[in-house]
Amino acid sequence: MDLKEAIRKRHSVRNYEERSLAPEVACALRESIKRYNEDGGLNIQLITDEPAAFGGRWARYGKFSGVTNYLAMIGKKSDDLDEKLGYYGERLVLEAQALGLNTCWVGLTYSKQAEHLTIGKDEKLVCVIALGYGATQGVTHRIKTIDSVSVNKTGGPLPEWFIAGVESALLAPTAINQQKFKFTLHEGNKVEATHGMGFYAAVDLGIVKYHFEVGAGSENFSWL
Ligand SMILES: Cc1cc2nc3c(=O)[nH]c(=O)nc-3n(C[C@H](O)[C@H](O)[C@H](O)COP(=O)(O)O)c2cc1C
Repeated sequence: MDLKEAIRKRHSVRNYEERSLAPEVACALRESIKRYNEDGGLNIQLITDEPAAFGGRWARYGKFSGVTNYLAMIGKKSDDLDEKLGYYGERLVLEAQALGLNTCWVGLTYSKQAEHLTIGKDEKLVCVIALGYGATQGVTHRIKTIDSVSVNKTGGPLPEWFIAGVESALLAPTAINQQKFKFTLHEGNKVEATHGMGFYAAVDLGIVKYHFEVGAGSENFSWL
């Protein structure tokens, strides 16, 4: 499964079969996590066979069941931490999808299990990503129109690569499906991505920027 197919097939899944990750799947994820932590200066951790984070009333309120594996999205406190975790977290989400897993980003409906995590003094746990073998594959979310999230500052029409990037971004997960982001095309194939006000909107921005890169093709543009 390539990344574009993973983007089309991914939906948030909240109900899982209570079973361990296949060793080769956990190993592939750990390798990617190591690389992304080095690239981004992050401390993302894969926690496996740990039912407590999704065992309490918060998870029941959020309608989660069977979650025993999750990614803890941790990094050094900084202004761009949320966006970076969104960007690298979504790379892991799409890789997990391609490995046959399902996922769900979770900001609120879980309880932090500090004894299972390594969080430095200057670090912060921003959110988690539930993952595992889904009882279902999830459903497509309500999607905004391309026009409502695009701005064109050039005199010409929107190029195909830009439209493909926005289409891909619109398939991305965002907190409460808010899709509060905008992509602006400037002269010289420069693209600016911004977010509005909202819960976890900066994490969402990192997520949708990665989707845009996959859809548009990184070779076609540069970020402003
Ligand atoms: C940063 C972030 C935080 C989220 N937090 C929660 C949460 O606390 N509980 C929950 O059930 N879903 C949560 N979600 C999942 C969104 O509700 C979901 O991505 C959105 O409705 C779009 O649906 P889809 O992922 O199936 O495309 C979160 C998503 C993101 C990106």
